Amino acid sequence: MIIFRFMFASLLVIAGFAFLPAQVQAAQTARENSGSSVKSEAAALPHSFARPTEVAIKHLHLDLKVDFRTKKLSGTATLSLTRQADIARLYLDTDGLDIFSVKTITGEDLKWNLGDRQAKLGRPLIVDLPQPSANQDSVVISYASRPTAEAVQWLTPEQTTDKKHPFLFTQSQAILARTWVPCQDTPAVRMTYSAKIQVPRELLAVMSASNPQEKNNSGIYEFEMKQPIPSYLLALAVGDLQFQKLGPRSGVYAEPSVLKKAVWELNDTERMISAAEKLYGAYRWDRYDVIFLPSSFPFGGMENPRLTFATPTILAGDRSLVALIAHELAHSWSGNLVTNATWDDFWLNEGFTVYFEQRIMEAIYGREYSEMLARLTLDGLLEEIQELKARDTWLKLDLSGRNPDDGMTAIAYDKGYFFLRMLEENLGREKWDTFLKAYFDKFAFQSMTTEGFVKHLKENLETDGEKIDFNAWIYSPGLPPNCPVVKTEELTQVAKAAREFLGGKQPAQITIDYETGKWTTHHWNHFLRSFDSKLKIEQMKQLDEEFQFTQSGNSEITHDWLIHVIDSEYSPGMTKLEEFLTGQGRRKFLKPLYEKLASTERGKIMAKQIYLKARSGYHAVSRQTIDEILGVSDE
Ligand code: BES
Ligand code: ZN
Repeated sequence: MIIFRFMFASLLVIAGFAFLPAQVQAAQTARENSGSSVKSEAAALPHSFARPTEVAIKHLHLDLKVDFRTKKLSGTATLSLTRQADIARLYLDTDGLDIFSVKTITGEDLKWNLGDRQAKLGRPLIVDLPQPSANQDSVVISYASRPTAEAVQWLTPEQTTDKKHPFLFTQSQAILARTWVPCQDTPAVRMTYSAKIQVPRELLAVMSASNPQEKNNSGIYEFEMKQPIPSYLLALAVGDLQFQKLGPRSGVYAEPSVLKKAVWELNDTERMISAAEKLYGAYRWDRYDVIFLPSSFPFGGMENPRLTFATPTILAGDRSLVALIAHELAHSWSGNLVTNATWDDFWLNEGFTVYFEQRIMEAIYGREYSEMLARLTLDGLLEEIQELKARDTWLKLDLSGRNPDDGMTAIAYDKGYFFLRMLEENLGREKWDTFLKAYFDKFAFQSMTTEGFVKHLKENLETDGEKIDFNAWIYSPGLPPNCPVVKTEELTQVAKAAREFLGGKQPAQITIDYETGKWTTHHWNHFLRSFDSKLKIEQMKQLDEEFQFTQSGNSEITHDWLIHVIDSEYSPGMTKLEEFLTGQGRRKFLKPLYEKLASTERGKIMAKQIYLKARSGYHAVSRQTIDEILGVSDE
């Protein structure tokens, strides 16, 4: 098997592989390292029908009309290609796209067909390419997306914050770009892109590209992304958006009523950019803007280049949840510059990003603060490891035949983080930082495998393999014994307060003894998570009276409180529970709450009643997760 793979690699070199563009080589490396057997020269990449070693998209131009009435994006995608001599077929990913024609740039029809549908992956669009002509190797695909396109959420005015205009946003990661753009939907291929998007005149369009800052009269907006990116970073949002500047190279987009609050909350963004650059090198994407989407956005944030997509649920009014911005910003290096080659290497995106996020937070808010965050992270990780199957707790995932979304657990994020923190502690921060900075530089705009990273690390830093135990972290379950220790006196005190409450101390006394008036969101999270068994109704009442948890406007605190509300069947919290589940669609909040509800018969009935009302307001990503929990389906 190994010999066969080696032969295959050398054959490709002979066949001219050495002359392929870097991105295609990366795809090739990805395939060789992906662990799946190589059956033929066109062996499939995981989760994609694309064959980028044969033909690769270099540039994409989108010309699309956004129609809120039919809920369709329609127009053309023009793909500029590089290909190997003697390759006459292009394989693209599509899922639910209606393809009308495929033509050459000069308008001649090309033969094409859609292959069989595969679960989760959609259908390959197979195009017979014309003879390549000197400098024009492009195809023009006329197509439309369907109203059910999973990446896209079409919101009615009522579903937006201001309730006046419709809104649209996309979420392409992991493999949903193909539901709105025919493309090579794999993180192993990069392309530049440009776009012309036509929207209703009262709306503004923005993308993961150069962006307008105000509306124009035509409703037509043009975009350019000059740096090559993988397809999962294609993004579009359309709505009644306003822009406000934060600093010289940053700003915020939001619906009018949200903008002021958002600008206030993101006050430290420029400082974060500077801190990040100081750590790991220049910011390579020119501007860094953030758009706050309506509350149905299924994630906390999405690192779309130049324009982070964010949930409004981090607008706590006290800047306590801005680590999310540090996280998405950090992806501008880890993920967007150096990209996981396959979704099995997802920790290269997320683990590095959580590590980098922590470093930014430490640089700006100090070690004691960032250690509180690390401690909450560790607690969450330990809990999740208990729930996951052993194989899903290796850093190197095996998502073959599964939805890559299944990889979005605390393993990639937080086991990844602690692995890198362990490396830092072993090697010394100075050496480690020098190494990381050079790593981002050397592999900028390329994809990387787990094995490629480890090899590069071993070649460039003196590592004590025994002390580090790569195998235990990457190819074994659970958390190795050399996992770093997190010290936080702040949270130790909080846990003590929680124990004293359980021991009978009055909440009012806790307020005094622990000066809870000075507590941050993270203190409260830790406090609420310290009660692992059911609280009695009487205890819930006491807590609520003193600390006003049911009234909290902070989404993180609300979430943790509502878990107890469900557990203890605390009826004064039930209205809030319903409000929270219908008022926002962030999967991280929805999933544990629906799961908790579904764990009892009565709760499950209630969950289904709430879901019946809430479901149509959720993005497909969240809907899919909750459908599974409640055993609900589309029909
Ligand atoms: N890139 C992820 C979101 C993602 C991952 C979407 C996989 C689809 C598939 C983003 O950077 C992220 O990690 N978001 C987190 C926030 C973060 C602070 C941990 C989220 O949304 O919870
Ligand atoms: Zn992330």
